[in-house]
Amino acid sequence: MIKTDNLYVDFGDSRNLLKTIPDESVKLVVTSPPYNIGKPYGKYKDKIPLNEWKELISEVTKEIYRILTPDGSFFLNLSPVPFGEEKEILPLPYIGYDIMKSVGFYIRNIITWTFNNMQNCVQRLSGRYENIVWGVKSLQNYVFNLDEVRIPYITQNDKRLEGGSGRNPTDVWYFNRVNNMTKGKLGLSHPTVYPIEMIERIIKMSSNLNDTVLDPFLGSGTTVVAALKLGRKGIGFELDQTYESEILKRIKTEATNIQPSLFDLINKSKRDGN
Ligand SMILES: C[S@@+](CC[C@H](N)C(=O)[O-])C[C@H]1O[C@@H](n2cnc3c(N)ncnc32)[C@H](O)[C@@H]1O
Repeated sequence: MIKTDNLYVDFGDSRNLLKTIPDESVKLVVTSPPYNIGKPYGKYKDKIPLNEWKELISEVTKEIYRILTPDGSFFLNLSPVPFGEEKEILPLPYIGYDIMKSVGFYIRNIITWTFNNMQNCVQRLSGRYENIVWGVKSLQNYVFNLDEVRIPYITQNDKRLEGGSGRNPTDVWYFNRVNNMTKGKLGLSHPTVYPIEMIERIIKMSSNLNDTVLDPFLGSGTTVVAALKLGRKGIGFELDQTYESEILKRIKTEATNIQPSLFDLINKSKRDGN
């Protein structure tokens, strides 16, 4: 466990760990669960019957609804995946959407995250997108800091745009996936590391300074690192404790504003040889 004033990371099944979080205490949940496609996560076996996978996402989504503040948001990242012996495409984002609706979320956007660096297929079109389903508890009252996430205008020379603050980033986002070279440089072994810039955009857009941001499938720690970098509090749960040293390393190298108590923890983990 890693626990300081602005960070809480624990290891175990998030279905249990989420139960320790008080009602309506978290502003934002961002997560990418396992996609059930056989990724080598270590402790978690990423190939389970589809009904069990749906049950996992459903249980976690119910807890997320409970712990979110009334103006909170849930961003669920899922992808179409090849499924079964025939490798037919199964649109997991549709399943995620159904689960979120059944739990009570209102959907604000289904973001398409597109990238170029993925394997090339020979029997179908190469997959180049995932989705991020954005749900809120109330359509009348939710955090949306559009000015924090504006992007440059397409037409730079249009005089009418002078002095403007940029355009809406739209619901199609381009962020390249974190490749093995980048992972090597960061010293990470986790198989599916998120592009941190994408998570930073979500955190700026849907939370404010000192708010709490949670990820129930933390992996290498991207969400809590982004939260700390942006002056939020981070909570993360991960089944496999072998990622603890990776998470600590990332906090040390990528988050600049961590609290002294966290430095002590990092130094302790270094002394312990992690
Ligand atoms: C897609 S990865 C998350 C990667 C993460 N977004 C990152 O940037 O590193 C999903 C993670 O969920 C973890 N996991 C699977 N089942 C879990 C459960 N029931 N509770 C907590 N973590 C779980 C896996 O071990 C894996 O590391």
